[in-house]
Amino acid sequence: MQNLEHLLQPIKINSMELKNRIVMPPMGTGLGNRDGTVSEANIAYFKRRVQSGAGLYITEISSVHPNGSVSPSALRIYDDTCIPGLSKLVEICHSADAKIAVQLHHAGRESFYQLKKGNAVGPSALPSFVFGGTPREMTNDDIVEIIEAFGAAALRSRKAGFDAVELHAAHGYLLGQFLSVHSNRRNDQYGGSMKNRARFIVECIQEVRRQVGQDFPISLRISAEEAIKNGYDIEDMKAIVPDFIEAGVDVIHASFGTHGSPAGIIQAPIEYPQGFNVWLARKIKETLDVPVIGVGRFTDPMVMNETVKRGDADLISVGRQHLADPDFLKNAIEGHPERTFQCLACNQGCIERLIYEGKSVRCAINPETGQELLYPVQQSKNKCKVWVVGGGPAGLTAASEAARLGHQVVLFEKGEQVGGQVIVAAQAPYKEPYADWIDRLKARALQYGAQINTCSEVTETMLLEGNPEVVILASGAEQFIPSIEGTHLPLVTDAWSVLKAEVPVGDNIVVVGGGLTGMETADFIARKGARSLVLVEKLEKSPVNPLTSHGNMLNYRLKKADCRFMFNTEVKQITEDSVVLVKDHETQTISPVDQVVMAIGARPVNDLKQFLDHQGIKYYLVGDAADPRRIIEAVDEGAKAAWDISQ
Ligand SMILES: Cc1cc2nc3c(=O)[nH]c(=O)nc-3n(C[C@H](O)[C@H](O)[C@H](O)COP(=O)(O)O)c2cc1C
Repeated sequence: MQNLEHLLQPIKINSMELKNRIVMPPMGTGLGNRDGTVSEANIAYFKRRVQSGAGLYITEISSVHPNGSVSPSALRIYDDTCIPGLSKLVEICHSADAKIAVQLHHAGRESFYQLKKGNAVGPSALPSFVFGGTPREMTNDDIVEIIEAFGAAALRSRKAGFDAVELHAAHGYLLGQFLSVHSNRRNDQYGGSMKNRARFIVECIQEVRRQVGQDFPISLRISAEEAIKNGYDIEDMKAIVPDFIEAGVDVIHASFGTHGSPAGIIQAPIEYPQGFNVWLARKIKETLDVPVIGVGRFTDPMVMNETVKRGDADLISVGRQHLADPDFLKNAIEGHPERTFQCLACNQGCIERLIYEGKSVRCAINPETGQELLYPVQQSKNKCKVWVVGGGPAGLTAASEAARLGHQVVLFEKGEQVGGQVIVAAQAPYKEPYADWIDRLKARALQYGAQINTCSEVTETMLLEGNPEVVILASGAEQFIPSIEGTHLPLVTDAWSVLKAEVPVGDNIVVVGGGLTGMETADFIARKGARSLVLVEKLEKSPVNPLTSHGNMLNYRLKKADCRFMFNTEVKQITEDSVVLVKDHETQTISPVDQVVMAIGARPVNDLKQFLDHQGIKYYLVGDAADPRRIIEAVDEGAKAAWDISQ
């Protein structure tokens, strides 16, 4: 058992006693009903989260006013019809001996949905950083109406049985918009100095306190620094926090960054270490004797324990780790921290899926998250002999899930080790934790009883002799090398060979393909210190969204390394020491070049499919073997195949 004595110590906040220092912070799910009430999916999701054993759970953003909601399925708390659903979340937490707060929220201008309807309001008529649309400037009457809405919602929270409320003044939503010079240009008492800009928050807190009484805990979520050019910093925040406390706040939840901060820093990418911004919590604690919740990339209870022990924060918010594996605390307490899947901070299934794909929450490495209603818990009644062909993320997940559900599973991997392309991708800068995830996924599959055979390629004869009842074909993909003149020359290589260090990195390099593989390979090369680096992509821009956390970091590092991006550009010919390109119908030559790295993409490997069809063997085609895509699709399809067999 790990020594977690500081993390597991109880703490009292106003009248609320928490059994330990772990908080699940608010995380939007997109799982609500279309009228903003709590759905069955919300309930199932929450039931699984409370198994983590945290002391306090905070609901996702819950809108205090109809014009403050981010989407139809975001939770609302602006009328009494939402109380029965919210009370169910309360019951779930209380039955787990945990406490629950609701996060009171108004999106202001940061709501695509409200901007589209023409309903968005803000302190000033300045466009949203994320969505571009402009809100209507709030009048004094609007201000009074929203302050009252916060108070009414807080009272409603108390009626619904919540143990506390949290006001969301972080991340650039309405309360944060008042605080920021980027969104507040008012020249009345709510604009101008930091004190004036903080007035709206102070008045909301005062109204909430008036409605809920003195004994009810109030948390205030702030972005301790705005983390944006010319935004406020921790010194500005330290000067204003006493006003918030005086207005009635019992605990400060010290987050970081806003909409528009680089690298989506609110949900920091893998480049940032655990607890990277907890120093901000410490600064606030130094200013005032008030409990502070720290947050940021925490995955390991030992690190959380040390943070509390050092006094950097009194409580630790653990966000995405609750999505990746809510058993993180249980595993640590039982002395098996290695069983936990640590969040990879990829944001593929969670925040970026919500924002950029408009879909509900998932997790790239945990197929249960957001799909709790589908997730089979009981072992299958029809146990079968399952062969999994291929040991990448799709195959390993399929094997692990099928074995968990009681099937007799053998996984065949033709290579020496499992992990597929993830093992290659894990060689790129900062991506080592991906290899660790593969190790843990393999260990989990073995623990459930799957057999894993490496250096073992499944043949037609093996299938006929072994006679599996079901095959899960997860044979992955191979690199695609286009037929361009010169690709046979010795200076031409491919991304995987570079990442696997099978070929030394050259001096003057052209990477062909600006997708994720191309950019990560260029990042790897830049780190090795190439003299010149050019990235060629035939599309107008990279398929890697520069607004995503990882995309932003990749762009930043490559630009810093003087990598030259050439979009709208096709390779026409490769010679012994040059690359001939066509850009905007004009031919250009890059020279000297001593290495050309092909990173054009991959194509499925599924040679056994025809045979399986022909023999009438039941099979599932999953992951890259069906169509090369991301980890989230591979894991999801691998799991769904195993779940389907078990119905
Ligand atoms: C899917 C998702 C939704 C989020 N929604 C909210 C939210 O509703 N309110 C909020 O204050 N923060 C929200 N956050 C931010 C988290 O509360 C947390 O601050 C952030 O994920 C950093 O913590 P972590 O590194 O432990 O994940 C969200 C984060 C994620 C991943």
